[in-house]
Amino acid sequence: MQIDVHNLTYAYGQKLVLQNLSLSLQRGDYVVVRGKNGSGKSTFVKCLLGLNAVKSGMIFYNHQDINNFKDWTSIGYVSQKMEDFNYEFPITVNEYLSVSSLRRTRQSDRLRMLDKMGILELLNQNINNLSGGELQRTFIVRSMLNQPKMLILDEPTASVDVKSAEFFFQTVNELNAQGVTVVIVSHHDTFERMNYTHVLTLHSDMSFEFETRERHRQKEGIQS
Ligand SMILES: Nc1ncnc2c1ncn2[C@@H]1O[C@H](COP(=O)(O)OP(=O)(O)OP(=O)(O)O)[C@@H](O)[C@H]1O
Ligand SMILES: [Mg+2]
Repeated sequence: MQIDVHNLTYAYGQKLVLQNLSLSLQRGDYVVVRGKNGSGKSTFVKCLLGLNAVKSGMIFYNHQDINNFKDWTSIGYVSQKMEDFNYEFPITVNEYLSVSSLRRTRQSDRLRMLDKMGILELLNQNINNLSGGELQRTFIVRSMLNQPKMLILDEPTASVDVKSAEFFFQTVNELNAQGVTVVIVSHHDTFERMNYTHVLTLHSDMSFEFETRERHRQKEGIQS
């Protein structure tokens, strides 16, 4: 999926958080979004997801304005905060994974991914009773099951143990190698596991840098 962001500006009431942010991502690009707490990373991601409504002309998917975009199921999303999640019915993890996609997912794929993420034993548990980390891993499984064309990940491994995180980043790299576009909010310590192509740095004064991997590494003095 191709993304074009054109002079994106976003405010919560009077509070301006993003101003004139522009960038373009081609199919298969992999951008890491970084910046201090409160710099607008989650706000940016929520704009991309249509959770924060933006004016027409600011965000395009494959040249189509986000306000006319319909193919949301082709985007896999893992959010930073899981505390707010509450499903209206007492459904199991397995049921949730099978109904939360318009596409049909195979039971064998669900089992394989749950096992890889170390939560196979949660298959028949009520999703509303999971811990934050278990829920985040369930969402990771969901985001990868639906044959996404794009992954939008907001600190997806914040409450996930090291081994599951390792597998997760490996899988993201594999999907990316198959042409899936990746936007991931992350902190420095997990950076090197990612086959990122670009880095977007947001600053508190609303300025930003959008750099290629090479440029970023050169600047940070990382040997390639
Ligand atoms: N729903 C909201 N209403 C009002 N202000 C908000 C809302 N959501 C976020 N903000 C404010 O917008 C700014 C950017 O928040 P955002 O969550 O995008 O930051 P972030 O870069 O993701 O931070 P963190 O690293 O802590 O996750 C912050 O000052 C925050 O207080
Ligand atoms: Mg955030």
